[in-house]
Amino acid sequence: MKNDLKENTFVSVTEKLTFEDLKSVIDGKCAAIHIKEFCSKKICKIVSKKLLTHSSRGNFNKASEIGRIGMAHYEIDSPSGFDFYYENAIANTWQLRELFEPYLSPVDKIRLLLEEVWPSGAQLEMLYGKKCFVGICRIIEPTIELLAHNDRLDRDAPESFQAKSLITQLSACIYLQVPEKGGGLRLWMKEPEDEMEYKKLRSGAYGIDIAKLGQPAHVIEPENGDLLIFNIRKYHGVAPGKGRPRINVGAFIGYRSIYQPLTYWS
Ligand SMILES: [Fe+2]
Repeated sequence: MKNDLKENTFVSVTEKLTFEDLKSVIDGKCAAIHIKEFCSKKICKIVSKKLLTHSSRGNFNKASEIGRIGMAHYEIDSPSGFDFYYENAIANTWQLRELFEPYLSPVDKIRLLLEEVWPSGAQLEMLYGKKCFVGICRIIEPTIELLAHNDRLDRDAPESFQAKSLITQLSACIYLQVPEKGGGLRLWMKEPEDEMEYKKLRSGAYGIDIAKLGQPAHVIEPENGDLLIFNIRKYHGVAPGKGRPRINVGAFIGYRSIYQPLTYWS
């Protein structure tokens, strides 16, 4: 396992997204950027209600305890799944945008901010010459604990040169509704040495029992409307909570260098 920097990392609680904070998350010095009420609590309440009863609400095919609206790239597991993801990418992107109307979707807001603060801008990720979907909504029952895991696009798209060219991968998550109690985001400042080690530690499950990793370096309990940006190549998970279901929307962010645009997708 590499990068155990528990003692030296911090969470940047801030009002504004900056290049310096983003770079600090990429470099592993900052564990997370936390912007309070990135989306107003009023909008969160209106949209959460719509999301909970949405007709296209389904579950992740590889993690059935997590509800979702839209389809994650991670779910592609067959040629037909591949076609379905890309054929519906733009329509699914619009679906979330329309759910927020007449307000600005916080996923669109983060896209704009990334473009403005990053020296080389930011753009929609394209794999195999096709535009990805961005703006997944996840709905999780409050008592569910998510095991420690990491996310890598090059694991989900192993034959894509674009995916392989990523240096690291962040997640921007906007929490529209959080449980009344608990349900914090657990962050470890370490990642598996390689896929072999990761597979071994998971022992058949989608993630790793936290006893194998030790205490997380940070546990962040966001409030409704908060944005968190963190490095998802490092281990992360979710503590169990109580009360309302947890609803968040977000995007993955790909980093290659400061001389290349950031990319985003779901
Ligand atoms: Fe994850």
